[in-house]
Amino acid sequence: AQRLAIMGAMDPEISILMDALEKPKVTTIGGIDFYTGKLNRKKVVLVKAGIGKVNAAYSTAVLTQNFKLDGLIFTGVAGGLHPDAMPGDIVIGSALVQADFGLLDSEGFTPWNFRNLSGETHPELFVYADSSLVQLSLQASELVDFQPVSTRPPRVLQGVISTSDLFVSDPVKANWLYTEFNSLATEMEGAAVAHICRLLELPFVVIRSCSDNANTDASIDFAEFVGPAAANSASLVLGMLELM
Ligand code: ADE
Repeated sequence: AQRLAIMGAMDPEISILMDALEKPKVTTIGGIDFYTGKLNRKKVVLVKAGIGKVNAAYSTAVLTQNFKLDGLIFTGVAGGLHPDAMPGDIVIGSALVQADFGLLDSEGFTPWNFRNLSGETHPELFVYADSSLVQLSLQASELVDFQPVSTRPPRVLQGVISTSDLFVSDPVKANWLYTEFNSLATEMEGAAVAHICRLLELPFVVIRSCSDNANTDASIDFAEFVGPAAANSASLVLGMLELM
């Protein structure tokens, strides 16, 4: 049996999974700690990537070149952009986009991206998650008891997640990310991980729970909700492993 990789950016995003890991063993490669063991009877490798696209890409590269994997699940928090994406809500990323990759000229910023492997250039703004992993996450979301965070029970959304090397704390920028890419939530790693998984044809999905709404209050909300939101995302991952 091969392994499933589970990646988060920060400690609160992986601590619950780390605590649940059976027979954990740590292997340090290239400065990154990889924790192997079992979660819900499934062989996993858990990794904290660090914040931002460079850390995410580096960790994904080292991970994929050193472990035999049959899939990767990214778990963590995001800024909700969709009007229905309140703190604690789950966003299943079925498509990822680098929102800060493109052309900057006198007209402003134009999103643009490509896949380039062995000299092949191929326009690819969105990178799509594995449909089986998306389906599995939707199935698991019906079974998991999510923590209530906002004033109503948590909702589950599925769609585009945008990624940039920016913590977004501006309603105008948040609205741009929503309208330009139709992205339901924004974060700082997903599209980088997705890009590398696409190059390697490794099935992946990005699971996020909203810690804030990427608006003026984002930093305050993040501090308050990062714990319960990260827990909701991790619970969904555990639910997925249960169904595997
Ligand atoms: N992760 C959680 N909240 C975020 C935000 N507002 N912007 C970028 N990444 C985030």
